[in-house]
Amino acid sequence: MSVKIFSEHALLQAKITRLRDKKTPHREFVDNMADISTILCALVSAEIETAPVTVQTPLMRAKGVKIRRPTVLVPILRAGLGMLEGFQALLPEAAVGHVGVERDHKTLKPKFYYYKTPPLKGAEVWVLDPMLATGGSLEFALTKIKDSKPYTIRAVSVLASPEGIAHLQKNHPDVHFYTAVLDEKLNNKGYILPGLGDAGDRYFGT
Ligand code: PRP
Ligand code: URA
Repeated sequence: MSVKIFSEHALLQAKITRLRDKKTPHREFVDNMADISTILCALVSAEIETAPVTVQTPLMRAKGVKIRRPTVLVPILRAGLGMLEGFQALLPEAAVGHVGVERDHKTLKPKFYYYKTPPLKGAEVWVLDPMLATGGSLEFALTKIKDSKPYTIRAVSVLASPEGIAHLQKNHPDVHFYTAVLDEKLNNKGYILPGLGDAGDRYFGT
């Protein structure tokens, strides 16, 4: 599995610091999540394949490129929805699928409750979830998505734990993984430390 961590990006890190702060007001949390997602989209999209095209400028013909494959964005409900708008800002033509997975608070195992996507065969699929903790939720979502035989799968998070990355590396070595920051570890309740708390609760105000 390829892993990219964008920990050197100044603006990204400043915005993540605002997400972490428990005093950050709800509206700012939501807006920051969108901004962080747009920055991540710009960084991840540097890697996708293009195809050559030629256009006519007002002066002459010019060689350029277009994105080769359709992109499908798949947020993992609920917290992944917080990343969707930021990705759509740069990829407005991308289709959107949804996977509903929720962690059981006692066992920390993923509980599956919803799956609906457009056709994924041959597509660039980008799975969005801000938190990679034990890795169970993302592992489950990736296994389901792989049944549809996409061309590439990229999974994008905001905060990841070393435990989660190791879990994904073992179970999905063919997936490209990106995160804005690698945190220290999980606590005994499966929360990322230092983390930002429960991303879904903070995003939706629950
Ligand atoms: C959070 C988060 C991930 C998951 C990560 O979702 O958005 O999906 O936990 O944990 P894991 O790596 O240990 O599986 P949660 O289950 O809290 O659901 P929610 O987004 O609906 O709040
Ligand atoms: N899910 C969250 O929202 N936060 C964590 O720290 C771990 C899992």
